[in-house]
Amino acid sequence: MDKKLYEKLVHEGRNFMHHHRGIDRESWKSGQQKELPQPPLVKGRMGGETIDLSKDFIKVIKDHDFLDLLIKRKSNRVYTEEKISLDELSFLLWAIQGVKGIRGNNYATLRTVPSGGARHPFETYLIVKNIEGLKGGLYHYLPLEHQLEFIKIMDGVEEAMDLAACKQSWVKKANVLFIFTCVAYRCEWRYGFNAHRPALIDLGHVGENLYLACASLQLGTCGIASFDDEYLNELIGIDGDEEYACYVQPVGTVKSSNQDKEDAFYSFLKR
Ligand SMILES: Cc1cc2nc3c(=O)[nH]c(=O)nc-3n(C[C@H](O)[C@H](O)[C@H](O)COP(=O)(O)O)c2cc1C
Repeated sequence: MDKKLYEKLVHEGRNFMHHHRGIDRESWKSGQQKELPQPPLVKGRMGGETIDLSKDFIKVIKDHDFLDLLIKRKSNRVYTEEKISLDELSFLLWAIQGVKGIRGNNYATLRTVPSGGARHPFETYLIVKNIEGLKGGLYHYLPLEHQLEFIKIMDGVEEAMDLAACKQSWVKKANVLFIFTCVAYRCEWRYGFNAHRPALIDLGHVGENLYLACASLQLGTCGIASFDDEYLNELIGIDGDEEYACYVQPVGTVKSSNQDKEDAFYSFLKR
């Protein structure tokens, strides 16, 4: 790559992380400041058959000790391919995006994660491979109803997981791949062109809740920044602009005796 182009891209990347204070505040107004209608709090149903999810979480949680969870939280890349129950999946979904209340007259959702301006600009999709009671395929989480929506059967679920994670082939052994998308205007309505920095900070909270919720169920997950957003946008049927894939996390069953295999993953460090 041309050196100048490389430097330009590096600076664009850094620029993204700045709050754009230099710009004359009077020269632009966000949708909210212009008193434009607020976009919907969630994407809503995409038309698929819905599946009710349980909120009886106490029965599935194996570890309630917060200190223990912090100690046990880690990235797991070795999965043992046992079943995960629908009730366990239900807890994971609620832990990352569950709605606990509505503020004002449909002004904001209050959820299990914080979000700048309570905009919660994310949607959650799942590529399901091995969840008790669910056929393999693509699903969409409906946080207001705490339901899953079946979107489509997929040929070659494992291959899709592999492609989604840019051929990090260990991902294929996960039971389910969580895909997070950002619905851009949901946060831009309030924050304009500064919106995507707080949105990505929000996403970190979502990911950490998934790590801790997995630890409490003795399941494993791993954050994945190396994912193929174009592939996922097409799979889900979103345009990649108004809504775009921005993070994925596989979830699978693990055994504590996996430590040797986990260490083997990092064997390159010994070289
Ligand atoms: C945003 C983010 C992106 C990551 N992307 C990848 C990835 O693409 N592949 C991978 O194997 N691990 C990935 N990881 C896992 C990190 O490598 C891991 O968190 C780090 O090595 C520290 O290990 P720990 O999570 O077990 O404490 C990612 C983690 C985060 C938070």
